[in-house]
Amino acid sequence: MIDFIAEKRLFHLYNENISYYFYITEKGILQHLYFGKRLDDIDIESLTDLGEDWSRTYFSSETKKEEMYRDFYYYDHSMSELPSHGAMDVKLSPIVIDIDGRQDCDFRFRSYRIFSGKKKLRDLPSFRLEESDCQTLEILLKDIASETYVLLSYTVMEKEAAIFRNLEILNKNAGIIDVTRAFTLTLEFPRKDLELTHFPGDWCLERQMRKEKLTEGSKRIRSRLGRSSHEHNPCVFLSDIGADENHGDVYGFALVYTGNFSFDISVSKWGSARVNAGIDDEDFCFRLNPGESFICPEAVMVYSEKGFNSSSQTFHDLIRDHLIPRHGTDTKEAILLNSWEGCYMDFDTEKMIAFIRHAKTIGAEMFVLDDGWFGRRDDDSSSLGDWRVNTEKVDLRRIIDTCHEEGLKFGLWIEPEMVNPDSDLFRTRPDWIVGRDGIDLALSRHQLVLDTTNPEVVAYLTQSISDILNTYEIDYVKWDHNRNILNPYSRYLGDKRQGEFFHRLILGVYRLFENLTSAFPEVMFEGCASGGGRFDLGMLYYTPQIWCSDETDPVQRLFIQYGTSYVYPCITMGAHVSKNPITCYRTKAEIALFGTYGFEFDPRKIGEEDIGEIRKVNDIFHRYHREVIGEGNLYRICNPFESNYMAQICVSKNQERAILLFVNILKENNSYRFIKAVGLNRAFLYRNHRDKKIYSGAYLMDVGVNLSFWLDEFSSFLIVFERVESR
Ligand code: DGJ
Repeated sequence: MIDFIAEKRLFHLYNENISYYFYITEKGILQHLYFGKRLDDIDIESLTDLGEDWSRTYFSSETKKEEMYRDFYYYDHSMSELPSHGAMDVKLSPIVIDIDGRQDCDFRFRSYRIFSGKKKLRDLPSFRLEESDCQTLEILLKDIASETYVLLSYTVMEKEAAIFRNLEILNKNAGIIDVTRAFTLTLEFPRKDLELTHFPGDWCLERQMRKEKLTEGSKRIRSRLGRSSHEHNPCVFLSDIGADENHGDVYGFALVYTGNFSFDISVSKWGSARVNAGIDDEDFCFRLNPGESFICPEAVMVYSEKGFNSSSQTFHDLIRDHLIPRHGTDTKEAILLNSWEGCYMDFDTEKMIAFIRHAKTIGAEMFVLDDGWFGRRDDDSSSLGDWRVNTEKVDLRRIIDTCHEEGLKFGLWIEPEMVNPDSDLFRTRPDWIVGRDGIDLALSRHQLVLDTTNPEVVAYLTQSISDILNTYEIDYVKWDHNRNILNPYSRYLGDKRQGEFFHRLILGVYRLFENLTSAFPEVMFEGCASGGGRFDLGMLYYTPQIWCSDETDPVQRLFIQYGTSYVYPCITMGAHVSKNPITCYRTKAEIALFGTYGFEFDPRKIGEEDIGEIRKVNDIFHRYHREVIGEGNLYRICNPFESNYMAQICVSKNQERAILLFVNILKENNSYRFIKAVGLNRAFLYRNHRDKKIYSGAYLMDVGVNLSFWLDEFSSFLIVFERVESR
């Protein structure tokens, strides 16, 4: 999977689907050559020869004369694996370090090693690959003018069309150095005819899909809000112009990180494109004492020669098989009823017991008590931080006992990283909050942020949440995070280290997750951040699912879930049937089925007819969800951002079962409308559970499913296909 061809100083990382090539120039620069479809022959010269140019010669420090690079290397134009900063390359560089006031750095090859497996990253989440899954190439590079080193690593798996990349900066100087930019990922393309796809959004409008052509200059996709955010998501795609779901070269990039991030995509005057990605560099300055090192968050690059569906499937397989935690699988598959939209914080024990008794009638298997059970919390102005049951309001034990009587599991909401000024925690430890003394601090939803750079804060939170989990039988925890991080300042870090604040805050959060998920391996944790404000690979390492959005309007959800699916599998998307009246319950349930599936309404207020509709979808959930939607391949068919329809199909890995969902948005008259299935086996016969007829896979994919009817707004069709032996 990884070869080093010594006479050419060439590295080849490959599997049956991809090749990634680069080589070491005579001067020790890592020059990028190729990333794409598996390629067995490579001609370094023909890939690197850019003709005669002034940037091919240099004034030699040894001969004191003008010399020409013997291989085809052109400073500022050649594609580099680790571009220098302020030296030979003036495009955006991945690493900037202040060493005694100078900022130029230029890393040259020193040594390499290849080994089986992939290292677990210190203090950071990363993909979990076994020794037998993959090989890693580690390259040690050294700055030409200091004792600063970079350990650059690439991991390639046996089959998946993906490369994992990371880097560690090591300070072997006698004094301190300040790392002011440390982007994990750099990838260059010898072309600019590419489209960028990214996923901007807002609260209740997460991960809207946008596509644009690259042009000269730079584009930054970033978060500076202290979390991956609603506004942008830490992933982008570059693709052939006009690439669609099933055709064209597509490159996907994602970071395993929850904090401030940046993707910088720039096009040079020579028409090459460079992607840099990593921790956002504004307000970032990480100080390394002699002997210390800085590890960047992991980056993943995915390649597909068959359009976006295939690149999404690679991400989905990697996330399901190698990122999300395994624990709590039974709980993950239980249909939950969450109390939030059914009653917000307006509840008492009797009301919750009534919810639980009715939960059975709609087919719920777990009851989740959301916000409002602790401290003195009846609205969002108080008590965050006081993780003690409000015994005047609820008898938690009785609620849990009632769940068990009814055969339900039980889940609880928490928001550990926050504190209200009106809380005992804030009154006793006002020094534990983020923000400087003596200035007005931004409140958001009446709350302040706890300073998780401080290990004492992390230890306190570990203890207080553990107390709850040890005292009560809790199967599931919904872990919320309801504000952005402003006023970045940590009393704990002191004045010299504030540039480390955002990153260390997230490291503290990861530590807290690590402590709690390892102490309670049976508990299933779901992530949440005012809906989908922290929907990222870093969170998915700890929480196998994340509440996708606070927007439960099913039509808006079509867009949100569609955008989310480019990187994240359905099984990670928290999706509930809510009370939103815009569509019928059947449609709401069909859309939620393409996520984790659950309910969020007052179950006492649902009529018989709606219960009947919900129960039909529950049956499909029980029969097919795990195999088809949970573990199968997702193919997007109609894009709601570009048409009046949303259509997608999930196909089980053995291609024997599939579920297709079609929803139109505006009303449409009768007209020809054949929706072509994707991903079925052409030779198999399938029963269409809607019209009960049998069709070949070829027919369903070439002719399509006939939906040529009058369509009212938001009509939905959920069609199960199941393999049969004969007609
Ligand atoms: C925001 C979440 O996204 C909601 O689902 C709910 O849990 C509220 N917070 C509770 O405060």
